[in-house]
Amino acid sequence: MRVHGGGIEGVLDFSVNANPLGPPKVLEEEVARRFRDGAYRSYPDSNYEGLKAAIAHFHDVDEEHLIACNGASEALSLALISLKPKNLLVVSPSYGDYGLLSEGIGAGCKHLAMREVDGGFEFDAERVVDEVEGLGGAVVVITNPNNPTGLVVEEAVLSKLAEELRGRAWLLVDEVYAELSGYKGLIGRELDNVIVVRSFTKVFGVPGLRLGFAYTPSRRVLRRMEAIRPTWNIGTIAEMAFRKVLVEAKDELWEFVRRSSRYIAEERAKLASSLSNLGYHVYESRANFLLLKHPWIDSIALRDELLREHGIHVRPAHTFHGLTRFHTRIAVRRREENELLVRALAGKG
Ligand SMILES: Cc1ncc(COP(=O)(O)O)c(C=O)c1O
Repeated sequence: MRVHGGGIEGVLDFSVNANPLGPPKVLEEEVARRFRDGAYRSYPDSNYEGLKAAIAHFHDVDEEHLIACNGASEALSLALISLKPKNLLVVSPSYGDYGLLSEGIGAGCKHLAMREVDGGFEFDAERVVDEVEGLGGAVVVITNPNNPTGLVVEEAVLSKLAEELRGRAWLLVDEVYAELSGYKGLIGRELDNVIVVRSFTKVFGVPGLRLGFAYTPSRRVLRRMEAIRPTWNIGTIAEMAFRKVLVEAKDELWEFVRRSSRYIAEERAKLASSLSNLGYHVYESRANFLLLKHPWIDSIALRDELLREHGIHVRPAHTFHGLTRFHTRIAVRRREENELLVRALAGKG
């Protein structure tokens, strides 16, 4: 079964990690205009040349190195189907869909649990290299910034790891939270055993538009991904709207991203400090969400009580490999909403 946040209407939703300031107006207006003009009556351009050029322009990368996808989800599937590894080595805790995908492609899935040191998770590149030795033909999957912990592994550490793994393993880096964390990431880097997955879902708060992409300097892998993707994998409205705004409103959108990450950093610090004062263990995070530990209350009981008593939805985190029924993930939302959450959690502390 797929377990994600969201899915309950009419609640204050802290279970989904989207930009609290999104979506940007310029994108919403363009989507509305395309809808009014009936863009959905036509097929999109099946080669997505204009869209790829727009994404490349927005991120200052070579358009020959990317494929446009239906969200990061499709990029992850296409990458793994193309690489056809015998095994996935997933640095955990992390996003749950990788395990599901490994089943789908008939690959083994090994979790490499990050150790908890001094109340925080620690990424150890040497352990990754050691594990790969024993696996043979692995794809190493790293969510960076990590979901659900918010941990960021610096670019230099990952580039060095990629060099060490060259010829032995691929590195699939899921960077869907990069922009909101002010993290530059590995897109644009000439690392030919690396596939980077990005999305516009989180940064612009548009999970319903479904636009993501994969970046890799490996032309062989990109050709395979292009060959197996569904012909019209991105709808006309998203294709037309993004193609325009990523180019014409590039500066405005990057200013929006910077404003969003500053806002998130401030609110995250406030939220973290209020919750630690209440006795919750708050893991250090650079992302737009926080992972909490609360050994005195079960996370499902906590979610249900918050829903019933306050109409607030949080994400029990026990479904993330290596976490427990005493972990919960919360998104950083707008200040007044975060204050409501703190008041609600005060009663459970
Ligand atoms: C780490 C991670 N990767 C991928 C996705 C899926 O992103 P998209 O909505 O762009 O498919 C999510 C969504 O929650 C996520 O947290």
